[in-house]
Amino acid sequence: MCNPLLDIQTTVEKSFLDKWGLKENDAILCDDKHNDMFTELTKDFTVEYIPGGAAQNSLRVAQWILNSPNRTVFFGAVGKDQYGELLATKAKEAGVNVQYQINETVKTGTCAALINGTHRSLCAHLAAANTFTQDHLQKEENQKIIEQAKYFYVTGFFITVCPPAIIQLATHSAEFNKTFTLNLSAPFISQFFFDKLSEIIPLVDVLFGNEDEAAAFANAHGWETTCVKEIALKAAALPKKSTKPRLVVFTQGPEPVVVVEGDKVTEYPVTRLPKEEIVDTNGAGDAFVGGFLSQFIQGKGIEASVACGSYAAQEIIKKHGCTVPSVCKYH
Ligand code: AP5
Ligand code: NA
Repeated sequence: MCNPLLDIQTTVEKSFLDKWGLKENDAILCDDKHNDMFTELTKDFTVEYIPGGAAQNSLRVAQWILNSPNRTVFFGAVGKDQYGELLATKAKEAGVNVQYQINETVKTGTCAALINGTHRSLCAHLAAANTFTQDHLQKEENQKIIEQAKYFYVTGFFITVCPPAIIQLATHSAEFNKTFTLNLSAPFISQFFFDKLSEIIPLVDVLFGNEDEAAAFANAHGWETTCVKEIALKAAALPKKSTKPRLVVFTQGPEPVVVVEGDKVTEYPVTRLPKEEIVDTNGAGDAFVGGFLSQFIQGKGIEASVACGSYAAQEIIKKHGCTVPSVCKYH
């Protein structure tokens, strides 16, 4: 469950980012002062329209690896328009069973993905995605899907939209001894939505994030450390509703993936991609999660899950946006 967004991707200079008050490597929500930015982008730049939205990216990647359709279902809200249809088509092509809540009056959300060098700045305009309501989950057909599901994945991004829906899924998961997984998604979630995040954490069995998100999470807790391992240990040890030990998985670009299981830390090295093979890192984290979950839901161990996560991330880094080659060579 997450925000389904259409990415509007282009390459920009630092001056463009400065003009709109954006950082080189960040993910933020838009406010009205960015409306003209979208107009400028579509008018003056050559842009690519790529299906995005963090969890939807992860599911498309997971389906690509699983290579058997409809193993995953996606909930989120879109508008009744061309962009929404495009997102649904691309997700279905990838094998994701999309169950959108459709808002007839608000446009499908978009995300400016502004590539600068090997960095990317994301500026999301949630629009219809922001109007998701919990009653979508109460629909009979969706209740059935939830009952059948064994694993749940929600992004931190969705905390800005509908925390009650997240709590509903997470509570169901805990009650039936299923697995609930969450991504920290972006530093601003810990910075500005910490109360809501903290209500969800006790229900989280697997927590994903990158090093910046880990640092923001630590800072919000008042933990005086930027050591990713230490933060992962502390996050794993936070109070938890069920007795299953919490798994924490923090990526750090080309640096090792830090995994804490209960109180045990393991670092999994990443094979660094040569510079000339890096097209853009947009979607790397999402792809990692998709690859990881594709193995994890099959009961494969953590090592195999991390290896597949890294494989998927690298395939995405070699292409524009969060797109995959047509054939998956992973076995
Ligand atoms: P977003 O979540 O921003 O990007 P990402 O997938 O996380 O990509 P990052 O570049 O941030 O990666 P990361 O830092 O998480 O991972 P890391 O570098 O550690 O996703 C983009 C999407 O977000 C867009 O499609 C957009 O629509 C969506 N979005 C934005 N705002 C949203 C909102 N409000 N709601 C919903 N959706 C929203 O790398 C991970 C792994 O990659 C590493 O562990 C490693 O295995 C591999 N890797 C990375 N770098 C290298 C390297 N140099 N060599 C080899 N392997 C590497
Ligand atoms: Na990320």
